[in-house]
Amino acid sequence: MTTTNRDFAEQRRSLAQDFHRPSYHFIAPSSWMNDPNGVIHWDGEYHLFYQYHPESPRFGLAYWGHAVSDDAIHWRDLPVALAPTPGGPDATGCWSGTVVDNEGLATAVYTGVGPDGYGQQSQCIATSQDGLLTWEKYSGNPILSEIPDLANQTIDLRDPMIWREGECWYMLLASRIKNRGGSVFLYRSTDLIQWEFLHPLLTGSYANDGCVWECPSFFPLGDKWVLIVAGKGRRIPFTVFYFIGEYLDQQFRPETSGILDHAYFYAPFTMEDARGRRLLWGWLREGRSEDAHVAAGWAGCHSIPRELSLRDGRLHMTPVPELKRLRGQCTEISDLRLTGGERDLELRGAALDIELEIKPEGSVGLAVACAADGSEETRLSYNPDTKLLSVNRERASQDEEQEAFANEAPHELAPGESLQLRILLDGSVLEIIANGRTSICSRIYPTSAQSQGLRLFGKGEVKRLSAWLMRSIWH
Ligand code: FRU
Repeated sequence: MTTTNRDFAEQRRSLAQDFHRPSYHFIAPSSWMNDPNGVIHWDGEYHLFYQYHPESPRFGLAYWGHAVSDDAIHWRDLPVALAPTPGGPDATGCWSGTVVDNEGLATAVYTGVGPDGYGQQSQCIATSQDGLLTWEKYSGNPILSEIPDLANQTIDLRDPMIWREGECWYMLLASRIKNRGGSVFLYRSTDLIQWEFLHPLLTGSYANDGCVWECPSFFPLGDKWVLIVAGKGRRIPFTVFYFIGEYLDQQFRPETSGILDHAYFYAPFTMEDARGRRLLWGWLREGRSEDAHVAAGWAGCHSIPRELSLRDGRLHMTPVPELKRLRGQCTEISDLRLTGGERDLELRGAALDIELEIKPEGSVGLAVACAADGSEETRLSYNPDTKLLSVNRERASQDEEQEAFANEAPHELAPGESLQLRILLDGSVLEIIANGRTSICSRIYPTSAQSQGLRLFGKGEVKRLSAWLMRSIWH
């Protein structure tokens, strides 16, 4: 296995010419990656861990990859933090978890998957004495493996998320209650080792919220508490839900809920940074066949961290302002009337940060990744009649291995409110946030590196379009 920084640099160099690979989103040096884990601000730096399968571009034996950053945007690779221990409770995977500061001792709490595989999930601990660089696993692992009887199932219990309240630690584990739905279970401890099960903090419905919940995050925001979970099941494939409500005496009463992203954003992780901001990361899944990403030699990346807040009782998300440091040459357009036709922009690019404000007067939008001959393009549009924001990928790629269904999200504008789009295009990543509250993280794989054109279309008044070419964070 390759874990030295030199190997990582070489892997990055060898994949740098792949124009589908994002250049300013966090991505593993090569191979497979998924969930963000244990992000923590430690000694003035952000440490990011992530589910990493260094030996293959397929999902498999999970390690904790590790990177560090001053600003949550520019990352440096560090050696792998956790590797499975043969014969141990994490023999077939160090799955997702969290890192806490236990009176100065960095402590990772994560799910180990035992020698028998998926059905053997238990919670494990590791500590670091050298600034998070090397980790020692606790000799008493696993610290918790029993699934509460009320779950009525024997497999799913994972992805510890931990916070401190007064004298106690609290932990959420993601699970499901058989024939009911995804659930998160609340535990309490004074030493991070002995845990007492309290009760389910929230249980979804089998029909709507997926069969199993994963990667819970629970935190105060404004004057409310927010629970974010990933859910997947037969009816709902890979969806991130959020719930906003009151939390009192270890009971959570949600008042509103919603879908956090309408496409490829999964496995949410949040943390409070040293500036008191609540930041959210997610894994951006691939939208192509396994054969295609195996051939590419890599799969998965992370979203740009988003700062969370509440506005009008709703979850509001903004990419961290530090992202603006990557902005280069800018193109600006203002007060442009679109009367139904198509209008090519002079600007081209595969790594762009775009701010677009439009007063829609009919269906209106922006096509990105357009080929000059019209053979490929991805159309992002808003229809004020159906109140749908959509990414049409029918012609995003001439390659049939790519998922081509539309990514759609309901999006309602208040009277007089204009459509405000933040569009982060980065190779195959198309991260879109509308009016800070509707998110579509799509994936596109044009066949030509030259498919970089942009075109406005539809009916409306473009109040402002600003587009910046983005610098790479890797070289
Ligand atoms: C979510 C997830 C987690 C698990 C990890 C394994 O994507 O399934 O529940 O800990 O990935 O890599």
